[in-house]
Amino acid sequence: MISHYLLEYLDLNSCLIGICIFLLLTDIFKNKNPPDFPPGPWRPPLVGNVFTGVDYKTTEKLAEKYGDVYSVRWGSEKTVFISGYKMVKEALITKLDSFSERPVIPLFDKVYKGRGVSLSNGYVWKMQRKFAITHLRYFGEAKKNLEMSIQQESVFLCDAFKEEGGPFNPQSYLNPAVSNIICALLFGHRFDYHDERFLKTLYFNIEAVILAGSTHANLYNVFPRLLDYVPGPHQRLFNNYLKIAEFLRDEIRKHKEDWDPSAPRDYIDAYLAEMEKKKNDPEAGFNIDSLVFSTLDLFEAGTETTATTMRWALLYMMKFPQIQKKVQAEIDRVIGQSRQPTLDDRANMPYTEAVIHETQRMGNIIPLGFPKRACKDTTLGGYFIPKGTAVTISLSSVLNDKSEWETPDTFNPGHFLDDQGQFRKRDAFMPFSAGRRSCLGEPLARMELFLFFTSLLQQFTFSPEPGVELSLEGQLGFTNAPGPYRLCVSPR
Ligand code: HEM
Repeated sequence: MISHYLLEYLDLNSCLIGICIFLLLTDIFKNKNPPDFPPGPWRPPLVGNVFTGVDYKTTEKLAEKYGDVYSVRWGSEKTVFISGYKMVKEALITKLDSFSERPVIPLFDKVYKGRGVSLSNGYVWKMQRKFAITHLRYFGEAKKNLEMSIQQESVFLCDAFKEEGGPFNPQSYLNPAVSNIICALLFGHRFDYHDERFLKTLYFNIEAVILAGSTHANLYNVFPRLLDYVPGPHQRLFNNYLKIAEFLRDEIRKHKEDWDPSAPRDYIDAYLAEMEKKKNDPEAGFNIDSLVFSTLDLFEAGTETTATTMRWALLYMMKFPQIQKKVQAEIDRVIGQSRQPTLDDRANMPYTEAVIHETQRMGNIIPLGFPKRACKDTTLGGYFIPKGTAVTISLSSVLNDKSEWETPDTFNPGHFLDDQGQFRKRDAFMPFSAGRRSCLGEPLARMELFLFFTSLLQQFTFSPEPGVELSLEGQLGFTNAPGPYRLCVSPR
């Protein structure tokens, strides 16, 4: 009787309206902000700010409007954005243990599944990070191997530049050169710049970084279950990661064939030994899969970041020839032409150091850092951020903070020089982020940048193709990279 009554009065339209009202009310109830939650743009129900861009330029505009702590909602996920040197310092350094976890990012979780260093949390992260730092240092700095390996690679790099007749895209050599340093640490050997498989793997890596910034990739993070069935760039990204992982698995397989636990040759050997040692502690995550994803972390993070910074550096040198001349004058004065640059030269080359730092500041290659998550209820800037909330730290807003930098929009090595022309550190220099999750490859990256940069400028002068106006506009994606360009080299 009741069902008959309902059927008579509830036609299809009424049912649909009813469902919509139900969904809306559920959404409003479920996603209600707690008191004092950071403000943000109006969020349409159900989808939230899914159409708001996630690039750093959009986030900077939102910060101007809503302040240094604001929030945005994609789907049902809320993210708090933190901007400006003072607020970022408070979040990462003063409140050291508040934002040291990673959220689950569906795009990366699909492949990493919480393994490795950069996307893991808790005990696994602690153990994997500690192991990575200790062994990168052991196979690099402590044994002085690293300096030699970068010097040797600089010779290959300069030779490759010399062999190019006309204008060329330096990325074809910078990526393999930089990658070879991390490969030497991980696998105990480098690759030839014409090694097909190596070049393909590097290409998958470059493409993965670009794809990770695509609209599909961002939508995947909001509607992962739906987009799993939709073709598009995100599927290509997953495929690229699998291809890179395959390359790494092959290296691991070869290592296992002639592995001698008493004489570790490189990072992989040491990790295999750690797997034996930690057999009774499976929670620490030392197994073959974790080795693949830790090496994927180091291979990926250790290649694209430093190579992109080098591309910015050469671009700035072409754009500002007077600055290039001053670097070369310092190289001639301190090193000369008869020997290779060494790490000890760094202390005597304040201008070159300032130029490299300014390149990192302006290059701003990871504008929004890596995503974070509040590990406990925290109050920041008077706002309440509940445990579990996703947090994005705008490194870009720190590197461009008007109250910290004299001329934030201009390439100005003077930012890092005192009145006497000596190098001066700046607190707001945070391209490697800060706090518990800060970049563990910073010492390695800084050595590479100094030795590659000085070796190239010792041997060459860089200029643009005749008649070509170079653009300093970055290509927005997961990283902020210069657009492709070609350069001319004249031997000095
Ligand atoms: C110019 C070069 C580089 C820049 C600008 C850079 C920048 C960064 C940034 C911004 C983060 C995120 C930190 C955070 O979440 O607060 C990071 C994390 C990381 N970087 Fe780098 N990086 C560079 C080179 C390297 C190199 C050479 C390696 C490898 C040896 C490396 C390995 C890592 C790893 C493993 C993490 C994750 C750390 C964790 O989650 O605990 N990076 N890097």
